[in-house]
Amino acid sequence: MTARLSTLSPPPAPALDVGRLRADFPILETRPGGNALVYLDNAASSQMPRQVIDRLVRYQRSQHANIHRAVHTLSEIATAEYEEARRKLARFINAREEREVIFTSGTTEAINLAMHGYGRRFIGAGDEIILTTLEHHSNIVPWQMLAEEKGAKIRVVPISEAGELLIDEYENLFSERTKLVGVAHVSNALGSVNPIKQMIAFARARGVPVLVDGAQAVPHMKVDVQDLDCDFYAFSGHKLCGPTGIGILYGKAALLERMQPFKGGGDMILSVSFEKTTYNVIPQKFEAGTPPIAAAIGLGAAVDYLSGIGMEAIAVHEHNLLDYASAQLRRMKGVRIIGTAAHKAAVLSFALEGVHPHDVGTLLNQDGIAVRTGHHCAQPVMQRFKVPATSRASFAFYNTMAEVDALVAGIRNVQKVFS
Ligand code: ALA
Repeated sequence: MTARLSTLSPPPAPALDVGRLRADFPILETRPGGNALVYLDNAASSQMPRQVIDRLVRYQRSQHANIHRAVHTLSEIATAEYEEARRKLARFINAREEREVIFTSGTTEAINLAMHGYGRRFIGAGDEIILTTLEHHSNIVPWQMLAEEKGAKIRVVPISEAGELLIDEYENLFSERTKLVGVAHVSNALGSVNPIKQMIAFARARGVPVLVDGAQAVPHMKVDVQDLDCDFYAFSGHKLCGPTGIGILYGKAALLERMQPFKGGGDMILSVSFEKTTYNVIPQKFEAGTPPIAAAIGLGAAVDYLSGIGMEAIAVHEHNLLDYASAQLRRMKGVRIIGTAAHKAAVLSFALEGVHPHDVGTLLNQDGIAVRTGHHCAQPVMQRFKVPATSRASFAFYNTMAEVDALVAGIRNVQKVFS
């Protein structure tokens, strides 16, 4: 998978008709602040095509009821659509079984579910959890909370100056106390695509489960959880042209079955009395209460939409954008690209000499260019590169080379203002 994403040799794939695809996104026609929108903040949240918006409206107008709870027709329709969405998500990531897909509110909740369900049951005093320097806070803080509660230890894989994981160091961190590896598939702050297949194989040979934070990978490449052989894979809907408030924890069925529930409530039980409660089977065991039904169905429509375009074609187009933007920024004086890994997804973090990233973001916004500035919820990455924050342009398949040109012109303008 990483080889397919090499910036040096993008794979052959049909070119995208970006103009036609852009017409699917009503928001790209809007002019927030009076300027044409150049939306380059896709790593924070991508935009939603008409096909997904229409699906949400159709559900709310004609199919909405609570699920799994009634025999009336509307409830049966809503239940069938919700479960169909689960099947679509399972197919999208090639899960072996649809019950391995648990709907959550997003990546953060998915990782917290794994922490409570797996970690609190199987990780104890003196045990070790391996994380990496480039994790998002959502794949750090839950494990720190667990480590504090249980007296476990966090071991951290360092990164190189390019933002690549030091794999020898990763392998050296393993001990007989290692109980879990948590690693991002793609770094949200740097764009590095990590060699997770190799890392998972190493962990698996030692009987250690691996949780992959796939939030920044799934929108940009074909992900196959069986091929990766990961134990958990988490991602969010709103970075994938779907709604907010929905995400997935994929887990291997055998592991999910051994885990304790995360939240208690309706739907996650088989029977309740004040003497004893028995839990439902997976995935319901992990879906207490009324789930985000509409959002799940919307996410199902989003993966249909993306599959219709083709993840391989998306990866190629985004790589072309990234290569074009990186080449231009590399030529500019006073611009430092932060994150220069050989394998990157569509994220371009940079710092401008003598200009605070917040000023970069504010001035670019005056030209209608939306980027994210800040620590990107990855403060250990900022500490590693000795910067308080970066500016980050992040691309989606609906971005164009002309938008990259607009970004470059915007950066030149910022430099002029501060010269
Ligand atoms: N995690 C999201 C980002 O990287 C919000 O911007």
